[in-house]
Amino acid sequence: MAPRTSIDEFKELVNSSNRVLALCGAGLSAASGLPTFRGAGGLWRNHEPTALATPDAFEEDPSLVWLFYAWRRHMALKAKPNRGHYALAELAKKKDNFMCLTQNVDGLSPRAGHPDTKLRLLHGSLLDNKCFDECGFIDRNNLSDPVCPALAPAAEDYPPDKTLPLLDPNVPVPPVKVEDLPHCPNCKTGLLRPGVVWFGEPLDEAMLEEVDQWIQEGHIDIMLVIGTAAAVYPAAGYTLKARKKGAVVAVVNPDPNSAAGLLKKDFFFQGDASEILPQLFEGVIGKMDDQGKIQ
Ligand code: OAD
Repeated sequence: MAPRTSIDEFKELVNSSNRVLALCGAGLSAASGLPTFRGAGGLWRNHEPTALATPDAFEEDPSLVWLFYAWRRHMALKAKPNRGHYALAELAKKKDNFMCLTQNVDGLSPRAGHPDTKLRLLHGSLLDNKCFDECGFIDRNNLSDPVCPALAPAAEDYPPDKTLPLLDPNVPVPPVKVEDLPHCPNCKTGLLRPGVVWFGEPLDEAMLEEVDQWIQEGHIDIMLVIGTAAAVYPAAGYTLKARKKGAVVAVVNPDPNSAAGLLKKDFFFQGDASEILPQLFEGVIGKMDDQGKIQ
């Protein structure tokens, strides 16, 4: 049975809702110019981005992995939050019982002013650097770009009609010596690594417990699933958990396949999150202009 698609009906539900959970993915930041993982976006210098996102890849070639992350960091720092990030941040300010779980590591939700008590960075942050030897050191919200002088080739700007040499598979990867990569100032032995969760690594246990506790606290009115292929666990499992607490599920995604599994009582809004979210929340947050400001 097809889900509902009426914006007006959903607005009423948002207005009257008490507890709302949101799960966000790379599609939320697509309108800010950041590529998603699956679908369009493709390879990074003949490497699958997911193959570079592992502790083994870092062990084998820390310079290559750092160049990839330094480039993603540069892109994220250059990007601006879009109306989707601002709409979620406003909703979080207006609703006492709102929790937003994001898989995004780009820092755009915090930069949109999303209150951090109502935001959980499930997969960490590109802007945190932590010790690969796990001495416990973590440098949070480091905005240096490049991270260190040796990674400058990843932080170059280039005209839209040109390929950055770093991204051109026909140009050799710039040589970066391991000793010139950032090292841990605490233990002095380990390399620093990006503070993101890699494949094969667990998510922060205390954070997961806290999220589960929030879910168990009571009935959930709405589960928003925004711009995610919902292919990576445990993040993808939150929709089912919210359903068990009574939630109506609302998916915002341009891909019609993302509506699979939705019920008649659910909602599917096909399109760009930056356009749709401000409309969906308008009754609670007010009208938003093109820049993401509430009028
Ligand atoms: P994906 O790249 O898997 O999915 C992005 C989703 O966004 C797709 O379903 C697109 O259809 C949708 N999308 C594209 N443009 C959109 C737009 N303008 N508005 C709304 N939706 C849009 O990204 P994630 O689901 O975030 O994990 O990927 C989950 C995790 O896999 C990431 O956090 C990362 C990756 O490997 C780690 O790094 C641990």
